[in-house]
Amino acid sequence: MEIFRTVSSVPATAKRRVLVPTMGALHRGHGELIRIAREAAGSDGEVAVSIFVNPLQFAPGGDFEKYPRPETDDEEFCRSADVDLIFRPSPEEMYASDFSVSVEETSLSNTLCGKSRPGHFRGVCTVVAKLFHILTPDAAVFGEKDFQQLAIIRRMVRDVNFPIEIIGAPTVREADGLACSSRNQYLSQTERQQAPALRAALLEAQRLAAQGERAAPIILDAARKVIATAPLARIDYLELVNAETLQPIESVQPNSLVALAVFFGQTRLIDNIRLP
Ligand code: PAJ
Repeated sequence: MEIFRTVSSVPATAKRRVLVPTMGALHRGHGELIRIAREAAGSDGEVAVSIFVNPLQFAPGGDFEKYPRPETDDEEFCRSADVDLIFRPSPEEMYASDFSVSVEETSLSNTLCGKSRPGHFRGVCTVVAKLFHILTPDAAVFGEKDFQQLAIIRRMVRDVNFPIEIIGAPTVREADGLACSSRNQYLSQTERQQAPALRAALLEAQRLAAQGERAAPIILDAARKVIATAPLARIDYLELVNAETLQPIESVQPNSLVALAVFFGQTRLIDNIRLP
């Protein structure tokens, strides 16, 4: 496994290269993306992981400074996951001090997380576009936990013609249903105990839809009641949306999704579920 810290040192390759972009603090969710990348790369191909806590996608006063950066653990994680190449640049390497060009998606970014995190997806699109140019992958893997991010990256790739296949990966969870996330480690013990209520709420929404309930208010109210069983939870959003457009809908259609973001203290967790 080789580690590169500068843009100019990244080697071009004739092999099939599959990229997994991450911000590090790697966990089993990232591990699953790497496994899928390995499969997609094939035995002759190459798996690249980027590790970069991207300042551009954090709000001022957000958790950029305190975001975990366990460099050695991440390196070991990648080594045992059979990764070929790590790209781990510094912020200065990625952004010139007078940097002034960015990539912005202007439709899907207006809902859900985009509403509560202005500028976030501009930061994500910009860094991912840069990583695509620097690492020139044939394919890249993104998790469905960040469903909106995956949809926006697919849109970016389509609209500006990146010759890169985007592969979605299912959400990996802890035994109690909580989606694995680098931010879970911010939770206090009590918050952590209450956090599975998010998954339980989504499963309740799915159960109602499976029984034939179509009305968004009824499904969302039921989910809200489950979240209310976690006294420390504060809902940022809980919405039924069309999984293509990410626009809110009033009743369940084919291809519907319930998405939520919930605060425990300062920690914001997201999750989603598809409805039958
Ligand atoms: P990060 O939060 O590190 O996530 C990196 C990738 O891992 C994303 O595609 C995310 O969807 C996926 N992922 C995280 N938790 C997961 C889980 N429990 N199951 C499956 N996949 C999971 O997302 C980012 O970094 C950044 O925005 C990035 C795309 C790297 C751009 O900076």
